[in-house]
Amino acid sequence: MILQTKELTKTYKIGKLDVPALRGINIDVERGEFVAIMGPSGCGKSTLLHLLGGLLSPTTGSIHIDGEDLSKVTDAQRTDIRRRKIGFVFQRFNLFPTLTADGNLKLAEKIHTGNGNHSADRRREVLGLLKLEDKMKHKPLELSGGEQQRVALARAIINSPAIILADEPTGNLDSENSTIVLEMFKELNAKYQQTIIMITHNPEAAAVSSRVIRMRDGHVEDAQDRTE
Ligand SMILES: Nc1ncnc2c1ncn2[C@@H]1O[C@H](COP(=O)(O)OP(=O)(O)O)[C@@H](O)[C@H]1O
Ligand SMILES: [Mg+2]
Repeated sequence: MILQTKELTKTYKIGKLDVPALRGINIDVERGEFVAIMGPSGCGKSTLLHLLGGLLSPTTGSIHIDGEDLSKVTDAQRTDIRRRKIGFVFQRFNLFPTLTADGNLKLAEKIHTGNGNHSADRRREVLGLLKLEDKMKHKPLELSGGEQQRVALARAIINSPAIILADEPTGNLDSENSTIVLEMFKELNAKYQQTIIMITHNPEAAAVSSRVIRMRDGHVEDAQDRTE
């Protein structure tokens, strides 16, 4: 098991108001799974992903990631686990606009190693995998939306994370670019057994996954294995 949550809850506090976003989430993900998370807007999908990636801490409950208990560590340790184990892909690509594709990857490598080390060979390999060899010197604004999201995906995998967490990665793409990006996710999963957890509203995206977890109102409604 690469990821497991037990009775995970998150309640946001806005002044005196409690906003319960997650009400007891139990999920298990095996190494090499490609899980899609679906559900109506506001049901808690992004909150769950942020907890899984250590961007937020839970109100109660536990999260185990690749042998480490995220709910029992300090903020600094959680940040460290995130850097070592997680690759994030967001709906807005969140690339540094002044850096080239290669520069964005280099920065991610430096943050990961903490000592400024990076590897040109590794970056070339990963950009090649995402069919971006000829775009290495391009800055984000010199790339299409689909290409920018592929650079973001390259950045997420450059440090060989245990898990990729993606929050509506095709939400800002037209259908052609969505299909290309989804094929890349699928290939990463099939060829390299990359574990992926992806939030999506897109039925095409859910179809490339191996399992769909459906959420509603802070609960997991249904965690059906599509292959069963
Ligand atoms: N930072 C926040 N502060 C307060 N409430 C929040 C915050 N983020 C999300 N929420 C609330 O938590 C609930 C779940 O939100 P979210 O996880 O973003 O859902 P989804 O990604 O499924 O649309 C919603 O009611 C939302 O308004
Ligand atoms: Mg969301």
